[in-house]
Amino acid sequence: MKITFLGHASLHIEIGTTNILVDPFISGNPKASHINVDTLKADYILVTHAHQDHILDVETIAKRTGATIVSNYEIVMHYQAKDIKGHPMNHGGHWEFDFGRIKYVNAIHTSSFPDGSYGGQPGGFVIEGEHKNIYIAGDTALTYDMKLIPMQTKLDLAILPIGDNFTMGIDDAIIAAEFVECDKILGYHFDTFGYIEIDHEAAKRQFFENEKDLMLLEIGESLEL
Ligand code: NI
Ligand code: MN
Repeated sequence: MKITFLGHASLHIEIGTTNILVDPFISGNPKASHINVDTLKADYILVTHAHQDHILDVETIAKRTGATIVSNYEIVMHYQAKDIKGHPMNHGGHWEFDFGRIKYVNAIHTSSFPDGSYGGQPGGFVIEGEHKNIYIAGDTALTYDMKLIPMQTKLDLAILPIGDNFTMGIDDAIIAAEFVECDKILGYHFDTFGYIEIDHEAAKRQFFENEKDLMLLEIGESLEL
């Protein structure tokens, strides 16, 4: 499994020959201007919730690639009305896709579309594929529900928001890592705009002092599991 950070909360995940995009917000992110939205590969686009900083490029990428949207029911219906195919899910449900298994899990946040229309309830994804398991938390507060995840899945990586203000900050993300029983963390949802700027070295040190490894990738940089 190869995971590339595309800035903010946007990820590209390769599982075997399958290309998965998560929450593509690239054309509106000046920090990601070196990422070309028009050449990104996608068989599936996972969407955690309907906020602009998670869906901005969904429609253009889906129309170009023919990718299937995987999200909550309301978000999938929103895109199906635009002739984009989708696989609707809801909290607690899982599905066996051709590349692996996805479970849609709870997140504490909100989920309106940019025009104010209803975007269902926000979520996160647990993905099991190629014998590696990851948790993509989405925008969320620290929540006790995270403790349910390791009861079923032994994680190899947890991708957690760390930018604070709209989501967990560093202190809560460290507790989240404990809740999901995973010491290997990829931080996301930081630095994109003023409210969520963080001190990288201080954040890494704080995780290290709690015996956890916080990775912060450059935009366009990848890690392999
Ligand atoms: Ni959000
Ligand atoms: Mn967000």
